[in-house]
Amino acid sequence: MSDFVSGFWNGYVTLITLASIFGCAVVLKLSTKRVAAGEKVETTGHVWDEDLSEWNNPLPGWWRWLFYITIVFALAYLVLYPGLGSYPGLLGWTSRGQYNDESAQADAEYGPLFDKYLKQNLKMVAADPVANQMGQRLFLTYCYQCHGSDAGGGPGFPNLRDNDWLYGGDPETIQATIANGRNGFMPAWEPILGEQGVKQVANYVLSLSGRPHDAVLASAGKNIFASNCAVCHGPEGKGNQTIGAPNLTDRIWLYGGSEKTIMETIAKGRHGVMPAWKNRLGEGKIHLLAAYVYSLSLQGQK
Ligand code: HEC
Ligand code: HEC
Repeated sequence: MSDFVSGFWNGYVTLITLASIFGCAVVLKLSTKRVAAGEKVETTGHVWDEDLSEWNNPLPGWWRWLFYITIVFALAYLVLYPGLGSYPGLLGWTSRGQYNDESAQADAEYGPLFDKYLKQNLKMVAADPVANQMGQRLFLTYCYQCHGSDAGGGPGFPNLRDNDWLYGGDPETIQATIANGRNGFMPAWEPILGEQGVKQVANYVLSLSGRPHDAVLASAGKNIFASNCAVCHGPEGKGNQTIGAPNLTDRIWLYGGSEKTIMETIAKGRHGVMPAWKNRLGEGKIHLLAAYVYSLSLQGQK
């Protein structure tokens, strides 16, 4: 609620909340008229299945009281907890506060465990099965959404098990990737090369990894590659890990290796973002994650 600069929405939300609760109480009161002594209860005139008729009886007392209790509960809740506009509630509870308390508690409990591994170098940690189990659990919490629970990746999200690296696969580089994040930037070429130019250079890219391609288009694409693409992907298309430009001569594709996908990549450009985790996870967890990812790539080598 603190995002609202004027007090209007604050009053608006408060008013609607209180009016709804009050409205419920009024409806309840009106619809639970007691039957006066001697008064006869009438049917509403609705009859189903020949002899099933609806009577105009008031709600039973226990039921009515349940409703009143929920109303009292709602009012008490709104006094204690934030619910009425920007009023913070008597208890001062916030979801952020609860999160911070729980994280502080977890840090106090698990911090020493992480510290133990922080003192060891990454290759040692990667060889420790207990550390890898902890790393895997962290991976399944923070990383699987993008890289997959088996770290196998998907279009736009690199496979972390395959020993092919955009930025480098030694343990320290993996750690730096996780801590600081990465921004892959491939410019859009259609405005410069036109559709035909994109098709030509795409066929040259296909030829680099020995895929089926049109030789005439590819030979025209060769020059385009040398003057526009080699700066980042290298003269032979082998890539450049300092900027995360993929190797185009292997059979591993970040976005896809069909002619159509390659043309789309070149025409529109790509911008893969790996978030930075330094502030969120802290050194200890990143150390374990880096060791875990490194250990996955070792398995891939076998
Ligand atoms: C929001 C999606 C997302 C999440 C969550 C995410 N990543 Fe990434 N990650 C990416 C993308 C996208 C790239 C590729 C960046 C690029 O295209 O330049 C990447 C790249 C990487 C790389 C570099 C791979 C290489 O080939 O050099 C590593 C290592 C990595 N991520 C590890 C992790 C770990 C560990 C976590 C969990 C703490 C994580 N990622 C969480 C999206 C994500
Ligand atoms: C400024 C540096 C730069 C230039 C110039 C550049 N690229 Fe890229 N390219 C990249 C980066 C970085 C990526 C990875 C993008 C990402 O991580 O999201 C990439 C990705 C690609 C991919 C996707 C590869 C895959 O595995 O899916 C292809 C294909 C490609 N570039 C071809 C080209 C061609 C052809 C040209 C010249 C017309 C070119 N690039 C020019 C930096 C560059």
